[in-house]
Amino acid sequence: MEIQWYPGHMTKARRQMQEDLKLIDLIIELLDARIPASSRNPDIRSLGNGKSRLIIMNKADLADERATAEWESCFKDEGVPVMTVDSRRRADLRSLRPFIDEACKERIERNIRRGFKNRPIRAMVVGIPNVGKSTFINTVAGRASAKTGNRPGVTKGKQWIHLGKGLDLLDTPGILWPKFEDPSVGTALALIGSISKDVLNRDELALELIGFLLREYPGTLAEHYQSEEDRPAEKILASIAEARGCIAKGGAPDESKAADLLLDEFRNGRLGRISLERPGASMIETGRG
Ligand code: G4P
Repeated sequence: MEIQWYPGHMTKARRQMQEDLKLIDLIIELLDARIPASSRNPDIRSLGNGKSRLIIMNKADLADERATAEWESCFKDEGVPVMTVDSRRRADLRSLRPFIDEACKERIERNIRRGFKNRPIRAMVVGIPNVGKSTFINTVAGRASAKTGNRPGVTKGKQWIHLGKGLDLLDTPGILWPKFEDPSVGTALALIGSISKDVLNRDELALELIGFLLREYPGTLAEHYQSEEDRPAEKILASIAEARGCIAKGGAPDESKAADLLLDEFRNGRLGRISLERPGASMIETGRG
């Protein structure tokens, strides 16, 4: 599926983030646990050169636990500490501090050696739109004050959230855009709902999802929509329309409505915990001929 989509504020936001990165010691990189590869921006490594990094696999409540465990060990092998969380839950973020200490071990030791025992670690949250940056900041801060807006330039002076115990968090998250060269990345982002509805062919996207579920999570469509799975994806979409009463004028199944319903239920986790990517392989087949 080809998605022509180029965010307008990209250059400005990137410049803003480069400026902000100068102020911090630690980059907290939020990924969507369902698509850790597609929600990761490879530029962050060069942009944040020399900074400590911590990966947060967010929305872990929606992802397949087995895939998440595989990703965790993959990131650990890279030497980056990683946490898996549902950022809406305070309990999930209670153990953030030890992870930060691990990520910033060298910096903390250096500070102590130099006699700056109380110098706080300054951190910044970065990630693609909708990955949960504001939610994360609000939960960590324990108050609903972090929503300064995703638009660059909204916050004039830098605002820091003092979290105590030697940790300061920049109030404004950095927005990253993923790579779009690989069509499967666009499809992955569209499937989790990170791309504006207006630029998508939702029927086509739903058919991609059906194909994926048949391959990777067989039985899911049968369980949720009583669909017979040994049929072409188009027929399955029609059966979902019938099962859920999506009927167009004249009594024919309304496939577009069924496509919306299927995508919504997948995104909300109603089809179960599903990951679209495993380390080393995108499970989406777009663009592979
Ligand atoms: P952003 O700043 O990176 O753009 O993302 P934001 O925090 O606005 O979060 C985007 C959506 O993702 C929000 O839902 C938020 O509640 C949801 N979300 C964030 N973290 C998690 C998580 O760990 N698990 C799950 N399941 N959802 C998460 P929304 O429907 O757009 O808004 P709302 O109705 O919750 O306010």
